[in-house]
Amino acid sequence: MADRQNWTVSSGRALQGELEIPGDKSVSHRAVMLAALADGVSTIDGFLEGEDTRATAAIFSQLGVRIETPSPSRRVVHGVGVDGLRAPSAPLDCGNAGTGMRLLSGLLAAQAFDSTLVGDESLSRRPMRRVIDPLSRMGARIESEAGGLPPLRIRGGQTIRGMDYTLEVASAQVKSAVLLAGLYAEGETVVREPHPTRDYTERMLTAFGVDIEFSPGHARLRGGQRLRATDIAVPADFSSAAFFMVAASIVPGSELRLRAVGLNPRRTGLLIALRAMGADIVEENRSEHGGEPVADLVVRHAPLHGIEVPVEIVPDMIDEFPALFVAAACAEGRTTVRGAAELRVKESDRLASMATGLRALGIRVDETADGATVLGGQIGSGEVHSHDDHRIAMAFSVAAQRASGPVRILDVANVATSFPGYDALAQGIGFGAFTAT
Ligand code: S3P
Repeated sequence: MADRQNWTVSSGRALQGELEIPGDKSVSHRAVMLAALADGVSTIDGFLEGEDTRATAAIFSQLGVRIETPSPSRRVVHGVGVDGLRAPSAPLDCGNAGTGMRLLSGLLAAQAFDSTLVGDESLSRRPMRRVIDPLSRMGARIESEAGGLPPLRIRGGQTIRGMDYTLEVASAQVKSAVLLAGLYAEGETVVREPHPTRDYTERMLTAFGVDIEFSPGHARLRGGQRLRATDIAVPADFSSAAFFMVAASIVPGSELRLRAVGLNPRRTGLLIALRAMGADIVEENRSEHGGEPVADLVVRHAPLHGIEVPVEIVPDMIDEFPALFVAAACAEGRTTVRGAAELRVKESDRLASMATGLRALGIRVDETADGATVLGGQIGSGEVHSHDDHRIAMAFSVAAQRASGPVRILDVANVATSFPGYDALAQGIGFGAFTAT
């Protein structure tokens, strides 16, 4: 974990300009993993230079994969083939990345060698039983700390068997761990989901030449296939763009263009929610980027009103609730969220982190086991904690744009896990000063 650092963020002016948001975190993790397993050389463009995704790349270097960085956001990966990874000589550090650890657990469970996955303080508190249980059913041997917590000690040399598995929680990470183990399994692996989640692993396996059949809520693949190197173009991360969508919506006089943002339908629940609240967000220049739909998002300030967030879109906006809560705090009336208990096991307990922080700034929030109700009002000045969570830190910097005075946000170094350079970009389009304190 980087050094403790705090920001005091002031409100600025109307937000104006065009922004290029860094590459998608989910896609960047998967691109490195699959390129490493492929036969041949793959190039990744738009790779997210965040701590999470760099940790994944560093792990593959430890596993014997040559990865070059000819320029920032570009990686050239010399794939070693599905059977070419080498035993690491030290534990593999996933940093803050749940995606890294969960996907790698599936991949490493099927290798001939032992490995250990470790993470930072926040990741070391996150539940891993959700991957250990299904992978064990496939024949994997994984030991964890009490309560299913990291580190994960993975025993190599096991025979992995395909299975037909229905996920207990809607989780793309668990689905992906099972599919990656399934690549090495005897027979067929089928994953069924209670609610469809992001399908980047399935799409990218297809791009690497794997025969995988999938549709929303369902994926099926046969073990023993090889991957063919390919070039990947990573779209801009919708979840990073989300902070600017909310910021431009709540700051009077704003108009922002967010260029070529990834609009995978399993990611864009926040667009539905914000539009239902009255937001003015227009999609322009629709195209495809590496097989993913992308568009410029033009966001103009608009008065927002509270809504009941439809439960069925919760998985499609699972990373966007910190931003949504800030929109709710600036909206007229009440916004209610239900069916979002998963937020309690993200980088922090995001229901508690947002409720506590917004209350500290004078906003009324009633928390429930699986959601919260936020009553819109005047955001005040005060001090909030990120709770080791990049998205909480960024969300409160957005809240500061509508606050009556400066907001001090404690522990913000974690923003670099997903959005390096966020503060400079934000100030460049009109956010107030971010003073490091
Ligand atoms: C991700 C899946 C989601 C999401 C996370 C990234 C992925 O987690 O919250 O930020 O890349 O597969 P869950 O699988 O735990 O829902």
